[in-house]
Amino acid sequence: MCGIVGYIGEQQVTNVLLNGLQKLEYRGYDSAGIALQTNKGVQVFKEKGRIADLTKVVDQDSPATTGIGHTRWATHGVPDRKNSHPHQSQSGRFTLVHNGVIENYLQLQRDYLQDVEMKSDTDTEVIVQLIEQLSLEEASTEVTFRKALTLVHGSYAIAMLDERDPNTLYVAKNRSPLLVGIGSDCRVVASDAMAMLQVTDQFIELHDEEIVLLKKNSLEICTLDGERIERAPYTAELDQSDLEKGTYPHYMLKEMDEQPTVIRKIIDAYSNENGELTIDPQILQAFRAADRLYIIAAGTSYHAGLIGKQYFEKLAGIPVEVHISSEFGYNMPLLSEKPLFLFITQSGETADSRQVLVKVKALGYPTITLTNVQGSTLSRESDHTLLLYADPEIAVASTKAYVAQVAVLAISAYACGQSSLDLKKELSIAANSIQTLLDSKEEMKKIVEETLTATHNAFFIGRNLDFYVSLEGALKLKEISYIQAEGFAGGELKHGTIALIEEGTPVFALATQSEVSPNIRGNVKEVTARGANASILSMEGLEEEGDRFVLPCVHEILTPLVSVIPLQLISYYAALQRGCDVDKPRNLAKSVTVE
Ligand code: G6P
Repeated sequence: MCGIVGYIGEQQVTNVLLNGLQKLEYRGYDSAGIALQTNKGVQVFKEKGRIADLTKVVDQDSPATTGIGHTRWATHGVPDRKNSHPHQSQSGRFTLVHNGVIENYLQLQRDYLQDVEMKSDTDTEVIVQLIEQLSLEEASTEVTFRKALTLVHGSYAIAMLDERDPNTLYVAKNRSPLLVGIGSDCRVVASDAMAMLQVTDQFIELHDEEIVLLKKNSLEICTLDGERIERAPYTAELDQSDLEKGTYPHYMLKEMDEQPTVIRKIIDAYSNENGELTIDPQILQAFRAADRLYIIAAGTSYHAGLIGKQYFEKLAGIPVEVHISSEFGYNMPLLSEKPLFLFITQSGETADSRQVLVKVKALGYPTITLTNVQGSTLSRESDHTLLLYADPEIAVASTKAYVAQVAVLAISAYACGQSSLDLKKELSIAANSIQTLLDSKEEMKKIVEETLTATHNAFFIGRNLDFYVSLEGALKLKEISYIQAEGFAGGELKHGTIALIEEGTPVFALATQSEVSPNIRGNVKEVTARGANASILSMEGLEEEGDRFVLPCVHEILTPLVSVIPLQLISYYAALQRGCDVDKPRNLAKSVTVE
């Protein structure tokens, strides 16, 4: 994920920026750059790759004391030098770094920038070019900046330099994280406090649609309408464990935010030299040799397995059974002639799954483990390993590992079959959609306030793939908020459980599957007629009036990657509201090593 730093003050700025960017490396990035305000104008240095690569090309001895920096994780346009930030306007007057996604960038380009030759493929460049165009008719940069931001739709954290106004650093925020800080001889801006702890521990939170004018000894916050806002700073108190999660209050929140990055890493890791998605040829061979796949897993991994079944059956034509590992050991079904066992386990240590592995290995069957931890017990003991590339998941409630499991299952099934689907493109779209959903946290908080404030239970319903995501949504809510929650196939609720629906009972219904969207809506009518407080989460293209939230459209087969995001966020905010220990819920462990 992208990161921003900016500094205006007395110190030589190059190293302040480079040190700050290093602290943001944990977010993941593929290029980096800085811009320095010098008496010869603004100088930009950027490079594909690591901060170490950028360090080699910057002017280490520049006397500049004002500058901005950026780490970029490619969304619009490939990760190369041209697309990396900072971006400059046509004349070079404005230089800008940005995190987020500008949804209407093509329209802005059409409406305002017909005559401007774009230098990159990014949505970000549109902002800086737009600012220059608007500045031709407006003398004040502050007014121009605010005006441009009212035209921009989407999420942004921005830091900008104006060559003609070297004493000001312009900052703006909407739905992307950004803080400003106050040092004794400087003012700073950063995506998280850690990046600027080197110069101050006094920070001020920014709200959405606010801009800030930073000067060496002052800062002014105002709304996009120009209304001035006073806000007191707070002291950032970070200890070692906080450092590991950045300034996130919880690992779970950090890990949810990493999900777009994880999908992109997986795309990268599973692309061959021709850029095609594939898996290790030996693993491919093992899948192809099997007449039936037995997926064995527990908890969230089991829910990912249910989705994997559809993928292997639809994309690869391989019949699949999915089993809860703790049951399989003593309740083994009649196996096919050439079974292949696929263990799904984030930790690679779950004892319930391992006991099955031991048994089926003793029977001489081939085994694969899909895990996040290379070298874990199941990874070591099975014939092959498929890795998740999700980086360590610390919060007990699994979020990014689930999304990674679903993505790697899709890639594996796709590699085994001959689908005409452009999975790589569809996964990239899904990653961007996840980002958009992660930018909608305020909306999820509102849903929690409206539905889960005073409830003792909740239901999640869906059909087809939505059913499996409903199971996962219910598990997340149970795990961390302790609200009794159940996930159901939409049609099944009326065969018993509807008896539990009372006035105000929260029901979350997923409607992302075109074939069954009318049916799930019918189920919602059934529960609403009995007093339920129902919220429909539908998908763009299938939405109807009254839906509580509309998810950005992704390929129908990949909907589990995006529909789970609001359910994760709802669980998170419900747990927070109840004062629960989000990362370490009672009675649960991350790695369950007893059967
Ligand atoms: C524990 C965790 C769950 C997890 C399950 C399976 O119960 O609390 O969040 O889904 O184990 O873990 P695994 O590491 O095998 O995926």
